[in-house]
Amino acid sequence: MPILKDDKGRSLLRISTAGSVDDGKSTLIGRLLHDTKGLYEDQLAALQKNKLTVGGAIDFAAITDGLRAEREQGITIDVAYRYFSTQKRHFILADTPGHEQYTRNMATGASTSSLAIVLIDARHGITVQTKRHAFISSLLEIPRIIVAINKMDLVGWSEQVYEDIKTEFTGFASRLNIRNIDFIPVSALLGDNIVNRSQNTPWYSGPTIIQRLEDVYVESDQNMVDFRFPVQLVQRPHQDFRGYAGTIAAGVIHAGDEVVILPSGQTSRIRAIHTFDGELETAFAPMSVTLTLADAVDISRGDMIVRKNNVPQARHEFEAMMIWMSAEPLVCRKNYLVRHTTRYSNVMISDIKYMVKIDDLSSEPADGLRMNEIGRVSLTSALPLFVDTYQKIRQTGSFILVDPISHETVAAGMIIDRAAQSVEAVGGALHLTRTISQVSVNEREERQKYRGITFWFTGLSGSGKSTIAAILERRLFDAGINAMLLDGDNLRLGLCQDLGFDKKSRSENLRRAAEVAHLCNQAGLVVIASFISPFKSDREIVRACIGDDRYFEIFVDTPLEICEQRDVKGLYKKARAGEIKSFTGIDSPFERPEQPSLQVSTEWMSADECVELIVTASKELLYSRDR
Ligand code: ADX
Repeated sequence: MPILKDDKGRSLLRISTAGSVDDGKSTLIGRLLHDTKGLYEDQLAALQKNKLTVGGAIDFAAITDGLRAEREQGITIDVAYRYFSTQKRHFILADTPGHEQYTRNMATGASTSSLAIVLIDARHGITVQTKRHAFISSLLEIPRIIVAINKMDLVGWSEQVYEDIKTEFTGFASRLNIRNIDFIPVSALLGDNIVNRSQNTPWYSGPTIIQRLEDVYVESDQNMVDFRFPVQLVQRPHQDFRGYAGTIAAGVIHAGDEVVILPSGQTSRIRAIHTFDGELETAFAPMSVTLTLADAVDISRGDMIVRKNNVPQARHEFEAMMIWMSAEPLVCRKNYLVRHTTRYSNVMISDIKYMVKIDDLSSEPADGLRMNEIGRVSLTSALPLFVDTYQKIRQTGSFILVDPISHETVAAGMIIDRAAQSVEAVGGALHLTRTISQVSVNEREERQKYRGITFWFTGLSGSGKSTIAAILERRLFDAGINAMLLDGDNLRLGLCQDLGFDKKSRSENLRRAAEVAHLCNQAGLVVIASFISPFKSDREIVRACIGDDRYFEIFVDTPLEICEQRDVKGLYKKARAGEIKSFTGIDSPFERPEQPSLQVSTEWMSADECVELIVTASKELLYSRDR
């Protein structure tokens, strides 16, 4: 996308700041504003006068719109935006007051930033808070950070202090996803190396903060491929006009394009694209526009207009990295309100997969999250949300959680759903509301002392899957574990009796099997599934449906010749004779799993030995409470 520029060719850079009052954040911001001679009102006027637009797209409008929408809902996010300019660029800086809730700024203001300034007090060096800031920047995929090592005057402008901090921070950040880091020694109070070069740091030859801000190359982080238009407002000024106003979250749209409306699944065409400055043929993110459609369709706030062959996933369940921002800790299964684009829904956290220990970035089990803690969670939403992963589209891949009673924003999340299964986002399924059970799988597992997981056997017909599976079932049952065998042949005699063996039917067969396994696992049951499941893509879908942390894949790797020799059911013979079509191994392929949890072979091991191995290898998954 074209980077927005004003008539003097000045582009816009969005910045966020991280650090507490003690680190000198307010001083730094004050210094930046003062030394660039910027004052809020002046710049606001200048921005408007210079019309920082391309075809009416005031980036800035998106912000104010967003804030207005939040105010309407009684949700307050304490991000203040400050504007200043130099000869080369305009800057929007997201800042938040508040000492305690420092993650709030980053999570809300910074998600649209191209650069974050992380402040460090040179006297104290790197603190957990600094690490948290760096980690959040990385989570938010902010590609660049400036580490401003502040209060250099209080450490005698020591090069050694600067170097030590730089080394330590570089070591920590090497495990994060941040492409560029600059370290700048500054004194915000005295103005050294902010706008004006310091006389006190002769050993430092790098840029000042403002130089860096002016020069950084900003690639566009806008996704221009996948069109997403969350409807913010239905405009109906008179009988003959019905328009849908909002900010394009991603992608490009042209008048005449075919679109689908979610959740109704109705289709239509874009009749016209209206903006403040008149009609356009084409519009792109992040423009604020009003769309009119060729057909009379029923659309309301919170719906999403997308392109026909490029729809987001409609999900009731998804996973996210979430930053908890409230003094009230996160409670699993409590009712919260989620705001995702312009859509609201009741939601609950069904599971905390882990919490990130900021100090060394390791993960540890957690029952809840407290203020400023970050964890990976599973969410269940009453209404379907039209999501993308944060990595793909920031706007449709992020959300905030709101406390339904206090209206406080309690968390911000980035969707990292790895589920490969894409639910067709059309038709009636979208009008379903998921009922949330009052008994959680965690509670069930707590009581029974083991987890509901699925052993998934894959391998050729006759490889020994069912034999091993049957022994395993007995073995687990005798050990006090409630296990249930789900066998391919059995399922095909009942639940899947309408299915054959072409690729599509096998996919459907396995999808149903995975759904059943998932349900049983949620009830705390251990499932032993035995299916040829010959295609990698199907196994991936199975894995996603069951969940990575409940899926144990066993590849029974018995060579085709041996399976054929055994030919227990006489099917290979029939397949060779052409009496059975699409028989795996004969005229239909078997794609070997590349990374099964375990690989066994009945060629040189007995079935009992295989079971022994499986039991040992799966212990951690079956019993560990910290997953
Ligand atoms: S899968 O491919 O969809 O995973 P599944 O495990 O359910 O297959 O069913 C395989 C069983 O169906 C085999 O054990 C065999 O008894 C029977 N079968 C009948 N026709 C075929 C075929 N064309 N290919 C494979 N198995 C078949």
